[in-house]
Amino acid sequence: MDTQVTQLTDLFQPVRLGPLTLQNRVVMAPLTRSRAAAGDVPTAMNATYYRQRAEAGLIISEASQISPQGKGYAWTPGIYSDAQIAGWRLVTDAVHEAGGLIYCQLWHVGRISHPDLQQGHVLPVSASAIRPRGKAFTETGFQPIPTPRPLRTDEIPGLIADYAHAATAAKKAGFDGVEIHAANGYLIDQFLRTKTNYRTDLYGGTLENRLRLLTEVTRAVVGVWGGDRVGVRLAPVSGANDVADADPATTFGTAVQRLDSIGVIYIHIVEGQTIGPRDTTGFDFGALQRSFRGLYIANNGYTRDLALQARREHTADLVAFGRPWLGNPDLVTRLRIDAQLTEANRETWYGGAEAGYIDYPRLDGAV
Ligand SMILES: Cc1cc2nc3c(=O)[nH]c(=O)nc-3n(C[C@H](O)[C@H](O)[C@H](O)COP(=O)(O)O)c2cc1C
Repeated sequence: MDTQVTQLTDLFQPVRLGPLTLQNRVVMAPLTRSRAAAGDVPTAMNATYYRQRAEAGLIISEASQISPQGKGYAWTPGIYSDAQIAGWRLVTDAVHEAGGLIYCQLWHVGRISHPDLQQGHVLPVSASAIRPRGKAFTETGFQPIPTPRPLRTDEIPGLIADYAHAATAAKKAGFDGVEIHAANGYLIDQFLRTKTNYRTDLYGGTLENRLRLLTEVTRAVVGVWGGDRVGVRLAPVSGANDVADADPATTFGTAVQRLDSIGVIYIHIVEGQTIGPRDTTGFDFGALQRSFRGLYIANNGYTRDLALQARREHTADLVAFGRPWLGNPDLVTRLRIDAQLTEANRETWYGGAEAGYIDYPRLDGAV
């Protein structure tokens, strides 16, 4: 079976990603686990978790806030302080020693936050003062999200500088590259989409203006890493965190053209509703793939069969799995031999300690 599948597909064969050679085309999607220590610092336990999953062709780290303002959930790691850099170094060393590669996902949540998660107990910021439906996950439980404060135009250069600073921190921490989180209704997506951006300055109104933050952030991060080590995650039709767009085909088609001209190495596309239906009726993901010269990472609801099909039909260069990695540290091995997958316990997705985090065994019984 092993050899047969390997002959039929290149899903389990090495592939180039810029200067890197990935062991296979199976990516570990970014997965927030809310298990950082005080100061939003990654720990030795986090390093064990990522090391266990090092057989992924590429690991994309859980989303990591670029600044204190970028934080929106309890116990998520940051990527801006010296202590966080030292914590992440444990992770990147562990992954590299195990033969893996890891990108850091750079995150600013924008309005998906709460004063309890903000320094000085201030309001979270966004493109416009529009309150999302939903609750914030704070250290004392779920709390209603307040109406955010719109960022002033004169604050945007500082925000871009925060991205550049975080990109530099990721380099110091030993990552192999970075992914800009522009998906799932977080800050950059709040600027991109019509439902959340009512600005009248250079960062709102026209499509060109809504794309400006994404463009400037990407240029700044590429300035730190070079385009061949920067990817961007987009979720064109996802309503995650209460965002929507009047014309996603034009908004995201143009965004991808822009990313192509800047020269990032991949786009990572959440196809459908994040962690929900893959139903993509009315949206042509193939058009995004065709208009982009780098690699296309497909995500959302992929099974082994869908991933094999995606390679057969060339609808993806790489396939990112999210939930399947939670309970299967040896996911690539299991997919290759078509072994049964363990479903992770939802109660331990976010927060807590080792249970439901680093205690899922491999097929061979090892942990
Ligand atoms: C526990 C959990 C945490 C997640 N955290 C992140 C994250 O930090 N950044 C991100 O871009 N997506 C995040 N996602 C979304 C996943 O990356 C992925 O898009 C989603 O799970 C769909 O892929 P799947 O069907 O293979 O699980 C998370 C999903 C889950 C289940």
